[in-house]
Amino acid sequence: MNVLCIGGSGFVSGTLARRAVESGHTVWAVTRGKRPLPPGVVPLAADRRDTPAFERAIAAAGAPWDLVVDCIGYDPQDARQDLALFRSRTRHLVFVSTDFVFDPDRRRFPQNDDNPHFLADGSYGAKKRLCEMEFLRAEPGAMSWTIFRPCHIYGPGSLLGCLPAHGRDADLIPRLRRGEPLRLVGGGHFLQQPIFAPDLAELILSAADNPRAAGRIYPAAGPEIIESREFYRLIANRLGVALTIEELPVAAYRAANPDKRSFLCHRIYDLRSLRDDGLAVPATSLSEGLRAHVESLLA
Ligand SMILES: NC(=O)c1ccc[n+]([C@@H]2O[C@H](COP(=O)([O-])OP(=O)(O)OC[C@H]3O[C@@H](n4cnc5c(N)ncnc54)[C@H](OP(=O)(O)O)[C@@H]3O)[C@@H](O)[C@H]2O)c1
Repeated sequence: MNVLCIGGSGFVSGTLARRAVESGHTVWAVTRGKRPLPPGVVPLAADRRDTPAFERAIAAAGAPWDLVVDCIGYDPQDARQDLALFRSRTRHLVFVSTDFVFDPDRRRFPQNDDNPHFLADGSYGAKKRLCEMEFLRAEPGAMSWTIFRPCHIYGPGSLLGCLPAHGRDADLIPRLRRGEPLRLVGGGHFLQQPIFAPDLAELILSAADNPRAAGRIYPAAGPEIIESREFYRLIANRLGVALTIEELPVAAYRAANPDKRSFLCHRIYDLRSLRDDGLAVPATSLSEGLRAHVESLLA
């Protein structure tokens, strides 16, 4: 396929671009050019916030793409830009959303896409929901679209940690090696289903040319449901050190950190819709994925 990534040198977008090249696709990536792209990716330099420059870069690339993946859409105008610009340039567009679209206080277990309780508070998750709405309201045309809502994404290229107060903690490995207790909200009891970034990349690529995925929104989660503390236990095991957890009381943490409330709930999903629609269901076990993640950081 001819694949265009919007983004391409970040954690998720870089993993996607690399995987797409490894799978034999021809891959373009549009970024502002601040970081190197994975080898083999055709660079397009433009700031998507500068609409005329972005349009010029896309038009100059000239290629019709089999798949365009917007890895870095955060505001409704990004979704509108996707619809306007790529409608005539690709058969299929994937938009990367988030599971933070849901109101954490009104989740179901598992949380499926028929739960209508979304955040509408101007937060990151609320704005991603507005992006989704742009696609849902768009006139049907020749371009089909698919939206994925990843939960916690981990893997090489990112920092380690899935829960406050040690989410993406740059010092996690040194802390564990020093025998420092980890302070986890709720003692780390919240359930999660972390997805390994290369599995997410495969899932995204599998949506192309899949008519069943057209106009659909899917959860993007890993194969295992675990208590968040298990994530940290596996890292400690890998390092050969003991894990000690100090519990941060949920109510007090939430009152002091209202911006973190989307973390303070169980985040679990049923992946049957992926399987039923023939998508690449994430399968990397957490222990295998975390081994690769820890090793990448140690290297
Ligand atoms: N991490 C998680 O657990 C998680 C969970 C759910 C969803 N997500 C979603 O995953 C996506 C994150 O993607 P990522 O990891 O690749 O992000 P990232 O690491 O922040 O990288 C951003 C990428 O986009 C490029 N970029 C940034 N601003 C740009 C602009 N204005 N114009 C053009 N290019 C620009 C950057 O390159 P330059 O700096 O060179 O421009 C870089 O390639 C987001 O959609 C996020 O909502 C993440």
